[in-house]
Amino acid sequence: DNYSKLDLNMEVIRDKKILLSRLRNGKRWGIVPTMGGLHAGHKGLIDKSVQENEGTVCSLFVNPTQFNNSADYNSYPRDWEKDKKYLREWGCDIVFFPSEQEMYPVAPRIELNFGRLSSCMEGKSRPGHFQGVSLVLCKIFHLLPPGTRVYMGQKDWQQCRVVSQLIDDLGFFLDLRILPTVRHPDGLAYSSRNVLLSPKTRPLASLLYKLLIHGKNMLLGGESLEKVKEKILSSSSESAGFRLDYFEIVDAYTLEIITFLSEVDQICLAIAGWVDGVRLIDNVLIEGKFGSGTKMS
Ligand code: PAJ
Repeated sequence: DNYSKLDLNMEVIRDKKILLSRLRNGKRWGIVPTMGGLHAGHKGLIDKSVQENEGTVCSLFVNPTQFNNSADYNSYPRDWEKDKKYLREWGCDIVFFPSEQEMYPVAPRIELNFGRLSSCMEGKSRPGHFQGVSLVLCKIFHLLPPGTRVYMGQKDWQQCRVVSQLIDDLGFFLDLRILPTVRHPDGLAYSSRNVLLSPKTRPLASLLYKLLIHGKNMLLGGESLEKVKEKILSSSSESAGFRLDYFEIVDAYTLEIITFLSEVDQICLAIAGWVDGVRLIDNVLIEGKFGSGTKMS
């Protein structure tokens, strides 16, 4: 039962130096970086970390540098009391809840560039987004003891690829764990932004996942890449209230557009669009199940 798991000793830390010293107790830690607005997707990450480690930290910080649109930043859901209540129930040990001044005592000047990983899809539609994500994660990663496990969701697959490259290239001693996307029964991926959908348009939001599954089934059925793209584009334009931003079929590792299926171990179908003015993203992965030499376009 949930009550017995209530962690009355959960500590809320607002100071980087205190976090750094608390984590250096020789225990194995797991961290779940978030921007709050916690939901079942975040819970899955916390649960896994609580299971696999001696201690779990969750960070709550709406990171201004990853928003390229101030209206989006201002409307981002914030309910810290509710978030802390959930984290207590889920068995989290430490909440890192820094102020903006604590995370950005100086205006950042560095530029972090991940090549194609940060320039395509989300990076193209939201310039500077991954620069901001990777910068804030670097700041958090510096506070973690070596061997800490970092839990992230496949929901943001491109972000996972960027963070994986960040960890490898900068040599952080961290272990990135990627967990599957948690969905509502109709397929809609849990997202903090879902609370911004009106009850009337909420049902339409499951279209993203439906289009992805339709695309995946067409590919597995041997349909050509062009046909799949064409069909997804036309079905999405027929749905009133939905505006497609992009639909891409890419190599899940490099995020390069696929030309030959046989060269790819894992394929990612990624989609982004607006429902009722709310921007949503989703993706599905397909393991290489295609015969060698199958030409995709
Ligand atoms: P946020 O959107 O709060 O997401 C925090 C983590 O939860 C991310 O790793 C995200 O992929 C994961 N997540 C979100 N929805 C999920 C779902 N439906 N199923 C599984 N996992 C899900 O992503 C960010 O915050 C920020 O960019 C951050 C990494 C914290 C940097 O500011």
